[in-house]
This record gives sequence, C-alpha cells and structure tokens, in this order.
Amino acid sequence: MAESKSAKLLVEGKEVDLPILTPTAGPEVIDIRKLYGQGDVFTYDPGFTSTASCDSTITYIDGDKGELWYRGYPIEQLAAESHYLEVCYLLLYGELPTETQLTDFENRVTRHTMVHEQMHNFFRGFRRDAHPMATMVGVVGAMSAFYHDSVDINDPLQREIASIRLIAKMPTIAAMAYKYSIGQPFVYPRNDLSYAANFLHMCFSVPAETYNVNPALARAMDRIFTLHADHEQNASTSTVRLAGSSGANPFACIAAGIACLWGPAHGGANQAALEMLRQIGSVDRIPEYIAKAKDKSDPFKLMGFGHRVYKNFDPRAKVMKESADEVLDLLGVHNNPTLQVAKELEKIALEDEYFIEKKLYPNVDFYSGIILEAMGFPTSMFTPIFALSRTVGWISQWKEMIADPQNKIGRPRQLYIGSPRRDYIDIVKR
Ligand code: SDX
Repeated sequence: MAESKSAKLLVEGKEVDLPILTPTAGPEVIDIRKLYGQGDVFTYDPGFTSTASCDSTITYIDGDKGELWYRGYPIEQLAAESHYLEVCYLLLYGELPTETQLTDFENRVTRHTMVHEQMHNFFRGFRRDAHPMATMVGVVGAMSAFYHDSVDINDPLQREIASIRLIAKMPTIAAMAYKYSIGQPFVYPRNDLSYAANFLHMCFSVPAETYNVNPALARAMDRIFTLHADHEQNASTSTVRLAGSSGANPFACIAAGIACLWGPAHGGANQAALEMLRQIGSVDRIPEYIAKAKDKSDPFKLMGFGHRVYKNFDPRAKVMKESADEVLDLLGVHNNPTLQVAKELEKIALEDEYFIEKKLYPNVDFYSGIILEAMGFPTSMFTPIFALSRTVGWISQWKEMIADPQNKIGRPRQLYIGSPRRDYIDIVKR
C-alpha cells in the first residue's frame, strides 16, 4: 500500500506527522504506529469503532452501501452462483479455483471429515443438556491434543493441514454435539455426499433407517454456510487473530473464536432472534416490543437488528430472507407464524423513526433462525452452525496474519483512571 499523504497531529505544541495509507476500497487510514514514540500519547477507542487493527486482502464491507465482497466478489453473486467449498478455496487462496484445483481441494477436505475415534470420549464428559457451543469450544480446543503434526504455526505445510482439518471436521464435531444432546448415536461422515448434504446426514440420519438428504435443503444449507463464511474484523475474527498473534496453535485460536461468537451480541444473536420472535408470538404484540427496544431504561434490544458496520441492509439478510421463503415453501410450512412476525417486525421497525435515525436494519441473524428451525434444528444448534460456517473465515484471517512479516503480538494499552500511587496500610490501621 503506497503512503500517499499524511495527517499532522499537534500534541502539547509538538507536531507529529502520521502517514495516511490508501486502501483498494473504503476509508483511508492514519498510520499511528509511531504516535506513542513521537507524541508520548495513546489513541483511545473502546470497541474499536474507528480503528483498523490490520490490513487484509480477504473481505471488504461497505456499511453505508450494504456491500460485502469475499476477495472482491460480491456475496450476492457467490450465494447464487458458487458453493461453500469453492468459497472456502477462494477465501483461503485468494482466487476462484480451476476445475482441477476445486476437485483436488474437495477431495482433501472430504478425506479429513472423520475425527480421531478417541475424541468421542470428550463428548461423554459433558452433560447431555450442555449447550452445543460449550461442547464445540471444548472439543475443538482438544484437537490440539490429537493433531500434533499440524500445530507448528511456523511450518506453512502444517498451517495448511490444520486449515483443511478444521474446515473438514467442524461439521462432524457440530453434528456430534447435536447427536449427543439428543441421546442419539454419532453418525459418521460419508465421502459420497457433498459438504452440506454430509452435515445434514450426520445430524438427521439414524441407524434404524435410511435417510435421503433433500437436495434443495442441502443447497439452502450450503448457501447459509457461504453467507456466514467471513466478515472482516468482527469480534470473533479479531479474537482468533489476537490469540494467533501469541503463537498459539490453530485449534486453540479457533476454539477462542467459537467462544467469542457464542455471545448474543454476536453469533449468539441467531438463537436470541428466533427466541425473541417466538416470545413476540403474534403480529399484534410487535408494537409492545418495538417500544421496549426504544426504551433506554429497558435492556431489551431487537435481536437480529443493528450492526456495527452496516448502516443499511445487511446484504446477507436479503439473501437469507429470500431463502427463508424458498425453504418454507419447499417444506410446505406456509404461513409460518414466526416468519410472519419477522416480516411484519422488519416492516414496522424500518418505518419507525428510532430505527431510521439509528440506521438499524436486519442483520444476518434475523432470518437465519427461521430457516434452520424449519430444517429441523433446535435453536441451540444455530450458533454452532454459524461457527462451522465461519471457521474458513477465521482460519483464512489467521493464515494471513501468521504469514505477514509485520505480524507481532497484539498488545493494546489503556487509559488508566484508577488510584494514584499509594503505600500499603497495615490491617490494624485500616
Ligand atoms: C453479528 O461485526 C460483525 O461483522 C458481526 C457479524 C459477523 O458476520 O461476524 O455481522 C455477525 O454479530 C451480527 C450482529 C448480531 N447481533 C445482534 O443482532 C444483537 C442486537 N444488535 C445490537 O446488540 C447491536 O446492534 C450490535 C451489537 C450488533 C452493534 O452494536 P454497536 O455497533 O456497538 O452499536 P450500538 O450498540 O452503539 O448501537 C447504536 C445505537 C444505540 O443507541 P444509543 O446509545 O446511540 O441511543 O443503536 C441502538 C443502541 O442502543 N441499538 C439498538 C439495537 N442495536 C443498536 N436498539 C434496539 N435494538 C437493537 N438491535
């Protein structure tokens, strides 16, 4: 990135000259790396609302226009024309694969979908009613105890093997977490099925009978994976990068990302959004909840609404909304009350001056739960499916950071507002 111009900062009479870096797209950035050294001051930006933590070539978001690109390709085109494993290749390696490259990549992923048989024992340590996200954090972290041949982050080959293993095994681990929670036997992956069909088969087939995956549902599942694959420097991706900056192994870093994604302000919002829609229950109760969302004294927020970056429609929400109609029609779930409430809630909210003024629109989590519920998933599986989908984004961002020669441990500073220095007081004098 060429330095084109600079910003001048006057601090206590001292002028600090800070380069301005020019991006391919989006806002220019002021490079403040030498600010503390030259100006003896920190910047202050809790929540990183105005801070670029890195440079990246992977994903671009324009929040005002509601645009999302993976390696320059708009999400709408990828959702319509591509499929998840091709998107994985694109995110990992930067270009759309040739037919040969894609076949080779799909074969490599397919042949890593089984987990070490010993890992089955980890699940038995959890209560059956454990949230599947708790299980996934534990089991994915434990992968570093099994796959010692892919934890040396300084070996590009080991980084590659770890990436393939994580993308390949996440559906198996997520499906095992689901099966364990409902007391059904684990179902092994099948190499004759596509990535999405394999996941549905591992979740919904039982030994007692044959389960044929509905190709249209597999297509819808695959599209959901693509829509969630990556999203710039969101909270969980930033967590993975920060964990990776210490040199932690990739399995530990992805486990950290899963833990962060679990929060209801982030990936946990898809579960919270569906539970909210169920709680609202009917269209006539929407005004009551809109009022709660606007009431500053009420902590209630419309789950699935609002976004740090999007101040326009989340492009993923648009695709998801279309997909919800398709899937529910396919399943003959017409007039799904939850979908009716969701559509009416979206309509009313987008006409309300509070939401217009604060630029709050439906995000990726608003409609996804409706589709997943219609497919037969319990709400507790919504965020694990988000985690499964986002693994390729996390690992692509992790690889980009590790391969960056400028990479150094992430270590923010602070604005200290605690007590001035003071001497210890013996307990008898307190
Ligand atoms: C994801 O970062 C990513 O890219 C994440 C993600 C990804 O793919 O990785 O896109 C996935 O996490 C999507 C977001 C899912 N979360 C939710 O749906 C939870 C509900 N949304 C909010 O919690 C909130 O909108 C956030 C957390 C998503 C964004 O919060 P910000 O950017 O910190 O914005 P904010 O909380 O400062 O909100 C600005 C104002 C506030 O009012 P004021 O203090 O200015 O008066 O808008 C209000 C908020 O109170 N507001 C809402 C609201 N979201 C924000 N009011 C009611 N309902 C909401 N949903």
